Amino acid sequence: MPPSPSPLAYVPFVSVENMMRLVHHFGIETVLGELTDAVEADFRRWDRFEKSPRLASHSAEGVIELMPTSDGEIYSFKYVNGHPSNTAKGLQTVAAFGLLAKVENGYPLMLAEMTMLTALRTAATSAMAARHLAPRGAKVMAMIGNGAQAEFQALAMKTVIGIEEVRLFDIDPKATEKTVRNLADSGLRIVACGNAEYAIEGADIVTTCTADKAYATILTDNMVGAGVHINAIGGDCPGKTELHRDILARSTTFVEFEPQTRIEGEIQQMAADYPVTEFWQVLSGDAEGRTDARQITLFDSVGFAIEDFSALRYIHAKLQGTEFFQQIDMLADPDDPRDLFGMLQRANA
Ligand SMILES: NC(=O)c1ccc[n+]([C@@H]2O[C@H](COP(=O)([O-])OP(=O)(O)OC[C@H]3O[C@@H](n4cnc5c(N)ncnc54)[C@H](O)[C@@H]3O)[C@@H](O)[C@H]2O)c1
Repeated sequence: MPPSPSPLAYVPFVSVENMMRLVHHFGIETVLGELTDAVEADFRRWDRFEKSPRLASHSAEGVIELMPTSDGEIYSFKYVNGHPSNTAKGLQTVAAFGLLAKVENGYPLMLAEMTMLTALRTAATSAMAARHLAPRGAKVMAMIGNGAQAEFQALAMKTVIGIEEVRLFDIDPKATEKTVRNLADSGLRIVACGNAEYAIEGADIVTTCTADKAYATILTDNMVGAGVHINAIGGDCPGKTELHRDILARSTTFVEFEPQTRIEGEIQQMAADYPVTEFWQVLSGDAEGRTDARQITLFDSVGFAIEDFSALRYIHAKLQGTEFFQQIDMLADPDDPRDLFGMLQRANA
């Protein structure tokens, strides 16, 4: 009979099933609203975090990335992939899991699925940026790319910004049909559009969230009128972009962490001295956000480790007092810390 694991061996694990139960328990719009505030609270203490571009392993099919950060007390990392051809094989383009740990002793605090959580945190991050950069009173949003992230994006913009109408376009009409169906009871007015030009007509916020393995041009310069806020969240890899460079030439561009975005973002098309503002500076008052109603603001979002840190900490706090996790025996923790081998031997007794 192997010895039972010590209490320290156990780490709370949030499975996909439990993540979904948790979201339904609190309500998706409540979760998106609170997560937006949680991400913003961490962006407001930007200096406290360790920051580095994510570690990316590229292949012909896609990318696998590790995204670590720490605020000195808590450490987190996310494992995430990006494989644009996956959907054709019935797989997710983006799948992820992540871990929170105590800096003090390195012991994990929580392991969690992050495919759902990434969609939630990306929508929350988009809403955070739009809250400060979108034109005042924005009511109409265009959503170009109606894949896995789309509904989360629409609901976060509804909850946080007060968006009332979402105009959808995808090169695959089935993706748009799916999104129309899923948002039918959302309280949003949904308009399915046959092309991107029609989708962005009258939109205050234009979100691009497509997956392609190329320099794609989802939006061209003549399509983008004065005063819009562009939330460009797809692409996100060297060699993968969504916007024509002429749009960037006319936009005031905000990024998460400049060294990472120079490698992965829309701005990889521009010269190294193309001016950008790290979004946290708008929150701290070190930089201006939108300064005029005719300005085009661009949030060139690639997804940054601090957003995952915020999301994991938010979920960890929400778990307390609930049953939305399993304890998994993840850490070998012998009574005598040096007797790891003895622990192995006793397991065979
Ligand atoms: N910035 C972030 O933090 C963040 C987070 C998650 C995902 N992403 C990125 O967002 C993108 C989309 O992710 P997803 O999980 O929704 O992928 P997905 O594969 O589920 O959906 C992508 C959709 O884009 C559509 N599409 C492709 N080319 C198009 C075009 N030219 N015009 C219109 N639609 C087009 C596809 O038909 C598909 O429906 C990926 O590039 C992913 O890496 C970014």
